[in-house]
Amino acid sequence: MGWDVDDSPCPAIEGIQKEGKANAKKTDDAIVDSILLSCAAETEHHEIAVYEGLIINARAMGRDDVVRLLEQNLDQEKHTLDEVKRAMEQARRPRSSGRDGAPAALRGRAARVIGRGPRCSRSRGR
Ligand SMILES: [Fe+2]
Repeated sequence: MGWDVDDSPCPAIEGIQKEGKANAKKTDDAIVDSILLSCAAETEHHEIAVYEGLIINARAMGRDDVVRLLEQNLDQEKHTLDEVKRAMEQARRPRSSGRDGAPAALRGRAARVIGRGPRCSRSRGR
């Protein structure tokens, strides 16, 4: 769109991560997975809201080409949120059900969400 990219850390995501880390330190190991996954869900909800706003603005500017790309990103974020929600449900199932909390891959993903410092999807006009 001819704008400079603002790839500075997103204060909202940093706040979610900070809260998640603080809560994980304060709690019992048995529910750390749930806390990390809740943090991941909050992050995905934020990212979805950002993409929805960007899509509205791109559509208003008549940039259907950009809208299509943003919608692809939005779909990915929604898919990730669905995965996180499923992992949250698994993490809360009693161990007697034969499940052992969230799948390792999703636990790792949640931990990466907390530790990676995602960037805001923002651009800065000239
Ligand atoms: Fe995401």
